[in-house]
Amino acid sequence: MSACRPFVRPLVLEVTALDAIATDTPTGTPFSTLIRVASHEQHTEAEGSPFMGHLLGGRLGVDAYARYTEQLWFVYRALEEAAESLKDDPIAGPFIQPELFRTAELERDLAHLMGPQWRELATALPATEAYAARVAECARVWPAGYVAHHYTRYLGDLSGGQIIRDRAEKTWGFERKGDGVRFYVFEQITNPAAFKRGYRELLDGVDTDDLEKQRIVDECKRAFDFNGAVFRALDGEFPLSA
Ligand code: HEM
Repeated sequence: MSACRPFVRPLVLEVTALDAIATDTPTGTPFSTLIRVASHEQHTEAEGSPFMGHLLGGRLGVDAYARYTEQLWFVYRALEEAAESLKDDPIAGPFIQPELFRTAELERDLAHLMGPQWRELATALPATEAYAARVAECARVWPAGYVAHHYTRYLGDLSGGQIIRDRAEKTWGFERKGDGVRFYVFEQITNPAAFKRGYRELLDGVDTDDLEKQRIVDECKRAFDFNGAVFRALDGEFPLSA
């Protein structure tokens, strides 16, 4: 067995990102499909992460939910502070849609969850700081990479976010779609399914070459990694007592 290794390894290392597109997907696969399929495994991991599992299973206190919401605030601030400078960018510009903005909703939720002093109390976990810093960096130097972060958060919020809202309302007694869960309520998006279809069309219309698209996919995977790291840190802060 081990005699085969030297032949196998260089071969694997020589497979480029571009080859991966060419060999793993049929030619002409829409970019929205490519990015969804490529992040599918990590999505399953995120859903199954202990912190998410405990949160959705109603096994954590509202303090854990508040701490998670606090982390989201740092991430969305990074996403949305970049909006003004990116709105005319040929790649990222079309994704900047004010109806998606979440910062104001997060701020209202945090005031409800942590009290009026929440701004003085809110702190980013190191994993959150790293995540927000990467979003800001992409916004500054690589708008296509910013799209990967935009997709990973907003399309997720429009989808699985609704499951989280439902659980949060039931577990901690928030008013339906009220303070505490406003982050998950997109008041200006009356038809989320149609909106997501439109969003996928935007992804399919990203005007760049295959190599750059693969880089965006890789950045999306990185975005999932950042989320996973935040979940692990939160799991460390809120371990379930045996
Ligand atoms: C327990 C937690 C989660 C649940 C229950 C969940 C559930 C779902 C569901 C049901 C969909 C499919 C919606 C559809 O087909 O239209 C979805 C899509 C999505 N989720 Fe999640 N999700 C969770 C966590 C996450 C996390 C942590 C992220 C990343 C930060 C994420 C990112 C996404 C993205 C980007 C999509 C859109 C996929 C696409 O259609 O391109 N999700 N989620």
